[in-house]
Amino acid sequence: MPAHSTIHTTIPVLTTGPPLVVAIIGGTSGIGSYIAKAFASVFSNHGSKLRVYIVGRTSSRAEALLKDVRATSPDAQWRFIKASDLALMSDVDAVCAKIKESEEKDPFIGGEPRIDMLYMSQAISPLAPSPRKFLPNFLRTIRWSERASTATTHQSA
Ligand SMILES: NC(=O)c1ccc[n+]([C@@H]2O[C@H](COP(=O)([O-])OP(=O)(O)OC[C@H]3O[C@@H](n4cnc5c(N)ncnc54)[C@H](OP(=O)(O)O)[C@@H]3O)[C@@H](O)[C@H]2O)c1
Repeated sequence: MPAHSTIHTTIPVLTTGPPLVVAIIGGTSGIGSYIAKAFASVFSNHGSKLRVYIVGRTSSRAEALLKDVRATSPDAQWRFIKASDLALMSDVDAVCAKIKESEEKDPFIGGEPRIDMLYMSQAISPLAPSPRKFLPNFLRTIRWSERASTATTHQSA
């Protein structure tokens, strides 16, 4: 892992690059919501260079988060995608299909439909035990990578 100082100096450089499309799976609370707030803060004075998909189950949490990040970074685009149960492959596929549809309908700043950065923190906090079992991390990562790359493949052929 890079040094903390390296991370701190590298993140602001993101704003000088091309516009970013970010998906935060499990973004409505905990680690995911802090990632969203960090993006809002870093991009707060950089115009419309950021689109973020927040994926989670709880609409009320999503609304509170969207209010917060929109206040911090009003020129960025914030979109909530409601999941049902991402422990299920069928729901992973359904969420990927929604992001794909959204990107194809309205690509960010006229670019290609895409996801540039994917964060996955969907899971149950160890502080809130639940009988729900998630797929092993490596399986979920493969599934998201497959579906996200399908979602972002440019349909030019
Ligand atoms: N917090 C830590 O210090 C820490 C440290 C190391 C590792 N971790 C791990 O990181 C993961 C996330 O932790 P956290 O503290 O951020 O947890 P959290 O606050 O409970 O957030 C979990 C997120 O995942 C979503 N989620 C949970 N179950 C879901 C399901 N079945 N289908 C769809 N979405 C679901 C939640 O959505 P809704 O809220 O909308 O329902 C929420 O957005 C956990 O696996 C935890 O073990 C946490």
